[in-house]
Amino acid sequence: MKTRRFGDTDLETSLVALGTMRWDPARLGSTGARDLLLHLVDRGLTAIHSSREYAFHEFFCSVLRDVRRLRPRWAPVHVVKIGVPHFDESAFDPARLEAIVEQQRRALETDTIHVVQWLLRATPNTDERRLPLLARSRAALEDAWGRLQARGRVRFLASYPYSVPFLERALEVPVVRGLATYLNLEERELVPYLDRMHGEGRGLFAIRPLGAGRLVARGVSRLDAEAWSEVIEIVGGGSRTAAALRFPLLHPATASVVVGISSQSHADELLDAVDVDPDPGRFHAVAERLSARSPA
Ligand SMILES: NC(=O)c1ccc[n+]([C@@H]2O[C@H](COP(=O)([O-])OP(=O)(O)OC[C@H]3O[C@@H](n4cnc5c(N)ncnc54)[C@H](OP(=O)(O)O)[C@@H]3O)[C@@H](O)[C@H]2O)c1
Repeated sequence: MKTRRFGDTDLETSLVALGTMRWDPARLGSTGARDLLLHLVDRGLTAIHSSREYAFHEFFCSVLRDVRRLRPRWAPVHVVKIGVPHFDESAFDPARLEAIVEQQRRALETDTIHVVQWLLRATPNTDERRLPLLARSRAALEDAWGRLQARGRVRFLASYPYSVPFLERALEVPVVRGLATYLNLEERELVPYLDRMHGEGRGLFAIRPLGAGRLVARGVSRLDAEAWSEVIEIVGGGSRTAAALRFPLLHPATASVVVGISSQSHADELLDAVDVDPDPGRFHAVAERLSARSPA
């Protein structure tokens, strides 16, 4: 599998990042999960998106530990979702960020968390609450981040913005080196910001390229047959699944697509289709065709 840099940093990541949210032991089984991760590793996967908030996080961490022992030279790139403040907090607490980073370094057995996907939350989780909270938290965040970075505990910060107004403010914060958020054929709110992000050396982890499965389950996606054939013609790849996976990767700001994979057959179909080079012209051609049909 090809690799790309996250923005203008030196962080190299596989084009596919494994999303672990759906890694249910009842479905995968311990041996099945270990064999699937080994298969992905042997096909070149390095990047992993995980979160202590996911129901099966401990199971995933135990599978990861087994695989690290079987492939000692494999060096995973960890993208870790961390919400500070959480919904039940009213202010940014640097000690809480540091505690979660330490806990996740231990759980994932990694010296450093390569990308922290940072979520600022409030209750209610509205921009009216979150934008002033970002303004109040910014200095403390930058301070805490500098300390963690200086100690080698973390490398890069990416925002999960929840909304376009928050995204615009987050991109004004220098320590925010990019975004880790949704981008797929149906969820295209990010499209107008990607050229600027790329120009600023900021990168993207594009989450749920298959639209949480909607884009690959027949009859569920909002794209009609005509839209699909236009997309497949521009993007290539032959199938709807391949075209959906490739779309975010056509933009040079995208370092990797974070995709949920629970079987080797799904893994192979995706990995056979993923080696696409950036082509912003084709990316924007698809986005424009789809917007002409229906807004993002
Ligand atoms: N707020 C956040 O930060 C946030 C929110 C949502 C998701 N995420 C992250 O993003 C990851 C991906 O999100 P997601 O799983 O919701 O969306 P997704 O990656 O767009 O779609 C995954 C779905 O597509 C199916 N699939 C995969 N390959 C396929 C193939 N070749 N053919 C047909 N179906 C295929 C998967 O089935 P199988 O499972 O059966 O393979 C799964 O049901 C999550 O695991 C999580 O790590 C983060």
